[in-house]
Amino acid sequence: MSVTEKVQLSDDEREALTADPERQDEAHTKGAYDYLSDNTLAARYSVISGLIEQYDCDSVLDIGCYVGGLRGAINRNRGYHGIDISAHAIKDAVARYGDYERTRFSVGDIRSEAVKLAQYPCVVWAGIGFGYSDKDSKSFADLFQKAWELCSDDGLLIFECIEDYAWVQSHIEATSRLLTAFHVTYSLASVHNRRAVFVARKVLK
Ligand SMILES: C[S@@+](CC[C@H](N)C(=O)[O-])C[C@H]1O[C@@H](n2cnc3c(N)ncnc32)[C@H](O)[C@@H]1O
Repeated sequence: MSVTEKVQLSDDEREALTADPERQDEAHTKGAYDYLSDNTLAARYSVISGLIEQYDCDSVLDIGCYVGGLRGAINRNRGYHGIDISAHAIKDAVARYGDYERTRFSVGDIRSEAVKLAQYPCVVWAGIGFGYSDKDSKSFADLFQKAWELCSDDGLLIFECIEDYAWVQSHIEATSRLLTAFHVTYSLASVHNRRAVFVARKVLK
């Protein structure tokens, strides 16, 4: 199916696609993630870019970068590497932001690529869900382990998820120093509009 041939998905179909690690590229081509590009939710990228400014992060790894919306929102002088499992998402990201300086996009599965990546002073993991985790793990523990491995010593992690997953705070506090946490409601968004944001400093144990 071409990227332009999108179908109208029911809520259940959208959730089934986005939750399955093996169907992420299909999720993109079928428009299951289109809700993220809607103006009502795009302000999320401004919130995250504001945190990157506040903590003055020189460069950022954006895990599951989708079509690169965060690159468009952060200061152009800051380095950026976006990685996503979906080749279609990365193709769109490169078309939009590929000519920005200090910018790189790559296709990769964070579950297996993590060991090959360099460490970054800031790791952003926004829109986190079980799709990133080992199948059936349903714990997020493995996911947080990977996030810390990708973060430099004393680096910063910015996690953003739907409020239903806000219990991930316990994972974050177990492995890092939580600097701030807050909730944001994007009132006009119709899908996943209530979000929790966590900013944490890596702590070497
Ligand atoms: C909910 S979207 C979040 C997109 C973006 N970070 C945002 O907050 O708007 C999840 C993204 O992660 C990607 N993804 C899912 N599993 C992945 C994996 N194992 N490795 C890399 N990317 C993955 C999907 O293709 C999708 O673009």
